[in-house]
Amino acid sequence: MGLSQDGIFRKLFRIVTFGLELIFVRSYNYFSRNSGDIPAQFHSLYYSSPERTWKNTRWMGCRTMKCPLDLWIYQEIIHELKPDIVIETGVNEGGGAAFLASILDSIGKGKLITVDIELLEGRPIHDRITYIKGSSTEEKVVQQISEMIKGSQVVLVILDSDHNKPHVLKEMEIYNEFVTKGSYMIVEDSNVNGHPILPNWGEGPFEAIQEFLSQNDSFEIEKDREKFYMTFNPNGYLKKIN
Ligand SMILES: C[S@@+](CC[C@H](N)C(=O)[O-])C[C@H]1O[C@@H](n2cnc3c(N)ncnc32)[C@H](O)[C@@H]1O
Repeated sequence: MGLSQDGIFRKLFRIVTFGLELIFVRSYNYFSRNSGDIPAQFHSLYYSSPERTWKNTRWMGCRTMKCPLDLWIYQEIIHELKPDIVIETGVNEGGGAAFLASILDSIGKGKLITVDIELLEGRPIHDRITYIKGSSTEEKVVQQISEMIKGSQVVLVILDSDHNKPHVLKEMEIYNEFVTKGSYMIVEDSNVNGHPILPNWGEGPFEAIQEFLSQNDSFEIEKDREKFYMTFNPNGYLKKIN
């Protein structure tokens, strides 16, 4: 049975509109490439309405301060790496931890070790999550984590605690040792201090990453992980290459 005349027209119409849309989007991308940074503008918009956006993001009811676009990337990384251990510094209410534990559940393996100076009530309780109270750079805490990850083949680290440069740099110097080759040390919130938001923050994660990389050639920035244009972690997806 052939298509009716009406059907042929509809099909043709769709092909033509799809072609025009493609031409329009490509031309738009081409001509607007130097005229204002749309991701930065969206980033500013997102950040300037915290009650609507980053302070109002939940995973299964638990509040997380992470950007959903980054959480999606975490899901992709965890699916690829199948880590035995994920370490997250900075837990807050535990929404990020709940998300990571759910993804570990989905791949059917892995434990999450989290550290925070505060032990907040009401955090998600999950077999895969261990909460440690203390500073991420405290020797006792680092020692405890080091014991817990002994023998693990794949370790992923996410740094999301105090976002001032000296602390982040210290965390990077300590936790990079735990990251296994091919895995990542993700440095969160490198968007502050004008990258592109909160220009008056002062030196933070972005500057810590710069300094760390100037002294360490075991990691490289994986820009592909910023594929969704907006990330809270610009230059923050660091892959261990040797
Ligand atoms: C941005 S919040 C973490 C957000 C969380 N990862 C999430 O997904 O929602 C930062 C957290 O770092 C914690 N923090 C601040 N300084 C710290 C330190 N020296 N060691 C560990 N945690 C710290 C704070 O108590 C706070 O809960």
